[in-house]
Amino acid sequence: MGKKILVTGGAGFIGGNFVHYMLGKYPQYDIYNLDLLTYAGDLIKHKHVEEKDNYQFIKADIADRKEIISLFEKEQFDYVVHFAAESHVDRSITDPGVFINTNVVGTQVLLDAAKSVQVTKFVHVSTDEVYGELDFDPSTFFTEETPLQPNSPYSASKASSDLLVRAYHETYGLPVNITRCSNNYGPYHFPEKLIPLTISRVLKEQKVPVYGDGQNIRDWLHVEDHCAAIDLVLHEGVNGEVYNVGGHNEKTNLEVVKAIINTLGKSETLIEFVTDRLGHDKRYAIDPTKIEKLGWRPTYTFESGIAQTIEWYLDHQDWWEQILSGEYQKYFDTHSTL
Ligand code: NAD
Ligand code: DAU
Repeated sequence: MGKKILVTGGAGFIGGNFVHYMLGKYPQYDIYNLDLLTYAGDLIKHKHVEEKDNYQFIKADIADRKEIISLFEKEQFDYVVHFAAESHVDRSITDPGVFINTNVVGTQVLLDAAKSVQVTKFVHVSTDEVYGELDFDPSTFFTEETPLQPNSPYSASKASSDLLVRAYHETYGLPVNITRCSNNYGPYHFPEKLIPLTISRVLKEQKVPVYGDGQNIRDWLHVEDHCAAIDLVLHEGVNGEVYNVGGHNEKTNLEVVKAIINTLGKSETLIEFVTDRLGHDKRYAIDPTKIEKLGWRPTYTFESGIAQTIEWYLDHQDWWEQILSGEYQKYFDTHSTL
């Protein structure tokens, strides 16, 4: 049956992939992509879908209460899948304010709007970073019961929004789910994040900045596997529940950077160790048992996913060249210690 789905942040990396995924899988659904088009959002990635009858783009700020409430009253969405956020940890360290406005206030505005039209489901896309950090003991993982101990302004803003989502379920009975995924990678990943930054810089034979000693560990998941998990939670998730999403692909940052350099046949001398990130979380690792019981399994290994991703960046140089030439270049020049 046809449903109206509001995807917030659908011009960004994961939201953009999710829009493509849903349009491909559910031609009977109407997809509304609401995005402010900050530095991280672009519509070039949607050129091939923008003519579809069941796709619509809305430029708006999720923190603009008046506009969001009247949009919900007009469209009466069935589902909300909420990706819109400031998402880059380094930016949150230099300028936390916008993270509070978008990630906390914006989420609360959306919750009020969703409550006012009684949506069937509100999926809040969160992150494993709300749990803080793990040490290097490989037998320890984040479960849904791990206490929230966010360490960066970004993760604190995401944890705050998670608590609001939980409260709207407990207080008003809003049918919500929270997903907490590990690090994503894949097509349309903004080149300020480690994997696309490394690919784009290595292709230009530019130095790759590795923070600290490069031994911090992240648990990598291909974005298509994340989209499939969100789809499953949207349709099958038990109201009020949190689902962790991850595929047991732990790598040190140095391993990731070396894998990319070696695949592209370049020299490891491109690696440059730079000043560490403030409050740099040591290790993230997800226990995905709960979502596996719901029926989810990742389809990519790190090896197959990184090969596909490198291939994609080679084939889509026009997309990332355009992104790199904008506001981002000024940001990189001001903030990089290279
Ligand atoms: P992104 O930065 O690529 O995209 C964010 C999008 O939100 C952009 O299109 C931007 O224009 C839009 N946006 C920002 N502020 C807005 C506002 N006030 N109103 C409307 N739109 C606004 O982010 P991403 O990496 O795709 O992450 C999407 C979501 O997934 C975030 O909530 C993030 O916390 C979460 N997440 C990301 C990862 C990851 O590895 N990237 C992992 C787990 C969870
Ligand atoms: O775990 C999920 C999170 O993953 C998401 O919630 C965030 O939105 C997303 O940005 C990502 O956060 P990270 O901080 O882990 O991702 P990032 O790509 O910025 O960094 C990955 C690791 O690489 C981290 O340990 C810092 C390091 N790094 C990063 C950059 C940009 C470097 O060594 N050099 C760099 O230039």
